[in-house]
Amino acid sequence: MKKTLVFLILISTTFNLHAEDGHLLWLRAKSTGKVTIVCFSKSSTIAIAKQELEQSWQGKNGAKLLLTIKKSKAIKGDGFKISENEIQANTELGILYGAYELLRRQQTGEAIQNEICNPSYERRILNHWDNLDGSVERGYAGKSIFWHDMEKGYAVTDNDRILWKEYARANASIGINGAVLNNVNSSKLMLTTECLQKVKAISEVMRPYGIKTYLSVKFSSPTLIGGLKTSDPLNSEVIKWWKDKAKEIHKIIPDFGGFLIKANSEGEPGPQDFGRTHADGANMLADVVKPYGGIIMWRAFVYEINSKDRAAQAYNEFMPLDGQFRDNVIIQVKNGPVDFQPREPFNPLFGAMKKTSVMPELQITQEYLGHSEQLVYLAKMWEEFLKSDTHQEGVGSTVARTTDASIFPQKHTAIAGVANIGLDTNWCGHHFAQSNWYAFGRMAWNNQITSEKIADEWLKLTFYPIEEKDSKVSDWKKNFLEPVKQLMLESHEAAVNYSMPLGLHHIFAGLNNTHYGPGPWFGPKGIRSDWTAAYYHKADASGIGFDRTEKGSGAVNQYHEPLKSQFENIETCPEIYLLWFHHLPWDYKMKNERILWDELCYTYDKGVKEVREFQKIWDKAQPYIDEQRFFEVQSKLRRQSRDAQIWKDGCLLYFQQFSKRPIPFDIERPVYN
Ligand code: GCU
Repeated sequence: MKKTLVFLILISTTFNLHAEDGHLLWLRAKSTGKVTIVCFSKSSTIAIAKQELEQSWQGKNGAKLLLTIKKSKAIKGDGFKISENEIQANTELGILYGAYELLRRQQTGEAIQNEICNPSYERRILNHWDNLDGSVERGYAGKSIFWHDMEKGYAVTDNDRILWKEYARANASIGINGAVLNNVNSSKLMLTTECLQKVKAISEVMRPYGIKTYLSVKFSSPTLIGGLKTSDPLNSEVIKWWKDKAKEIHKIIPDFGGFLIKANSEGEPGPQDFGRTHADGANMLADVVKPYGGIIMWRAFVYEINSKDRAAQAYNEFMPLDGQFRDNVIIQVKNGPVDFQPREPFNPLFGAMKKTSVMPELQITQEYLGHSEQLVYLAKMWEEFLKSDTHQEGVGSTVARTTDASIFPQKHTAIAGVANIGLDTNWCGHHFAQSNWYAFGRMAWNNQITSEKIADEWLKLTFYPIEEKDSKVSDWKKNFLEPVKQLMLESHEAAVNYSMPLGLHHIFAGLNNTHYGPGPWFGPKGIRSDWTAAYYHKADASGIGFDRTEKGSGAVNQYHEPLKSQFENIETCPEIYLLWFHHLPWDYKMKNERILWDELCYTYDKGVKEVREFQKIWDKAQPYIDEQRFFEVQSKLRRQSRDAQIWKDGCLLYFQQFSKRPIPFDIERPVYN
């Protein structure tokens, strides 16, 4: 007991540890010197930029900084040019982004040269799956920051405004410039006038930070709240209803960004209910918002009940419509063809739709990756996705380049991330889940940035011992920054290993419910076949995996050569996607000579061991971090270790019924039944 006490005292005299202040996110720096700011423009956005710079300046004491708004062709959109003594931009927002970039570089020690930074995407948007009653679909960080219990109505308090301001500031600091305020499974009430008044209040707080407001809407709104008999997109009364609604919205929220629509998907209404196509529906709405500069983000997350291969459906439904969409429609496509699984190949629609704007949808909230219980740094997975080569326009047609107008002349470009934000004191439920919010913003701004660089930045901004002298900082870098960064970078692969390795997918407990633990046994009784795990893993006496080759579902044909042949051929199919594309016998020989069953066992086991290592790394980092954050993460890692073991045991014991082989004897035996 005594020993621990002495040790703790020692620790806290070694480092100046701050009390937990998770709500500050990565915005913790305080100024270490004075700066004089010269700017000839005045606005609320410029005022924020000035205040941020004065508050957090860590450059030369007594420096003079010029903020210049001046048209430059080399600077695009809200991009900027920075040097040690000047931020130049075409827009006020560009100045604000430049200010955050300058401060970030000062804090992380990155060089500040004469450099132009342009955003990869015009619109960098968070999608909140928040319901109007305050609950959050797939939210693991408390209730909605925008909506409260229905009994409270749409009242707005001062506290709400403070919170929204902090939220807007955090977003602006990483370049996010839009937010969809409500769930894709939208409430019909969203477009009512009372509700729009609340949206007005939110957008007023966010406007100076450059965050545009967007809304998810129900396609059948004309019937549900407009009293019309139909919501057929070609019906003139329906068109008029939407036109009037758009006019009303823009009167209330002049810079309103547009609509996000989930149509004819998972029971949501859509144009197909009236014998019309996605293009008919999207174009009607696009025309309606066009006069106000609005866009329509039309989701491609569609699949039919009991289909042969759910992974093939978005492509089948959307490809025939390529070229039919208005230029202010963007098709919003999830990174993978199924549904935000721990690992999926990219959705084949990327690069294939050449005459239509396409935007990636990533999921920041960890629906399928351990909720806010597990430390999984998602940027690694997003990097893999953005760098995937679609080959659609030759080598180097990466997903990033097919969506950011480098290859196709898209009128509008965008990227969306399903938010992981809630009323929790640390915003995201897990301290490290904040890094995923941060990483989404950074990648949306620069789709070529590496996940490693982002982790480095985020750790420095979030955990840096700010008040320490240089000598201590090098200690911190060696003993905290480097090992914890490594942990972050390995965390996604570990999660894949202990949950769904080698291309397995969607084998969760309660498929349409929690999406947390394992449930490969999840049976078909009374449930749609594509909502059962057996649909995806297809384990039986003959083997395991989903055959998507030409002999199987044929989904492999949706990829451009040489990918198609590469995935089709078992010799060349990357092993990380093996069971995604192939159904293989249990004794199939892997590249390392092990049989498939053994490899599956070793991979699950590896995942568990990796998390055990993470625990050790974190415990060693204790001297360099405040108690509260240390213990909170430590306790989450403990749970993650246990749950990784449950994944391994559950899946191996279940699959063993079919493989009828022993778990290799050098692997720890299962402990859970
Ligand atoms: C998943 C998720 C749902 C969500 C849907 C979507 O299926 O579990 O909660 O509504 O994706 O993206 O529309």
